[in-house]
Amino acid sequence: MKGIVLAGGRATRLGPASRATSKQLMHVYDKPLIYYPISTLIHARINEILVITTPAQVSQFEELLGDGSQWGCAFSYAEQTEPRGLADAFLIGAEFIGDDAVALILGDNIFYGAGLGEQLQAFTDPDGAVVFGLWVPDPERFGVLEMGPDGKTVVAIHEKPADPPSHFMVPGLYFYDHSVVDVARHLPPSARGELEITDVNNQYLGQGKLAVSTLPFATDWFDVGTFDALLDAQSWVAGLQRRKGLLIGSPEAAAYREGFIDADGLRALAAADTHTGDLVKSGYATSLLRILDFEDG
Ligand code: TTP
Repeated sequence: MKGIVLAGGRATRLGPASRATSKQLMHVYDKPLIYYPISTLIHARINEILVITTPAQVSQFEELLGDGSQWGCAFSYAEQTEPRGLADAFLIGAEFIGDDAVALILGDNIFYGAGLGEQLQAFTDPDGAVVFGLWVPDPERFGVLEMGPDGKTVVAIHEKPADPPSHFMVPGLYFYDHSVVDVARHLPPSARGELEITDVNNQYLGQGKLAVSTLPFATDWFDVGTFDALLDAQSWVAGLQRRKGLLIGSPEAAAYREGFIDADGLRALAAADTHTGDLVKSGYATSLLRILDFEDG
């Protein structure tokens, strides 16, 4: 399975902080926001990743992330000239996807939970589509799952329903087989003029090919779209990292854990940063090395 990180958009809810930069380049505590969704893909053992950004910001993402080889990955980049909707990712990424399955993750979504990587890995060869259901106290703000009596099949997905059929919302991570490119090609734009991911999922639902996997209740999830959500995510990362002494949402740590780089590779990443001095003063290089202490007991 390949991965797409959708990191364009206008970020109007973060103005004026977003006027001259991208939301996904803003930091969530100690690392850029986009590190978190990239780590999620790496935990799913996906390492061929297309990053979609605005034309104005693509060079900054390239400078930040490079070709991905430092993390045992292959990154490529594409531009979205206008925010035409989440499903536009499959048109922009059609060539990249080719005949492979693809995961789409939103560039401003943070996922964290014990066992999440293993759960995602179980769905990386889907027949149709897979969405993930997350229990929230306020489902009316989201796309909400109506599930069958077995709790596994989806009957419908309701967009911001006044009377939610369940507490399970659909966060910004979706798995598809390669047919998603065709589905997106034939999708009419919605009333707001966007190619909607919910319409894609409903197509699979109509074919009986939409599976759902509910995430454990203890899964942490943030959609970092507003100042308050950004602040919440910052505080949560800061608190957890301080208590545990380990990094959350670190592509380096994820790449090591999933076997894309070995211990020497991780040491080399920390050493390179030590050499330039960049990440020593920030403490990031030290935190990277602590992962080895943890793994060694
Ligand atoms: P949104 O949060 O819906 O949109 P936005 O980021 O432009 O923010 P705002 O509502 O404040 O204007 O987008 C969710 C994610 O998807 C985010 O990472 C941006 C990305 N996105 C695109 O890259 N292209 C698109 O066409 C859309 C709609 C979103």
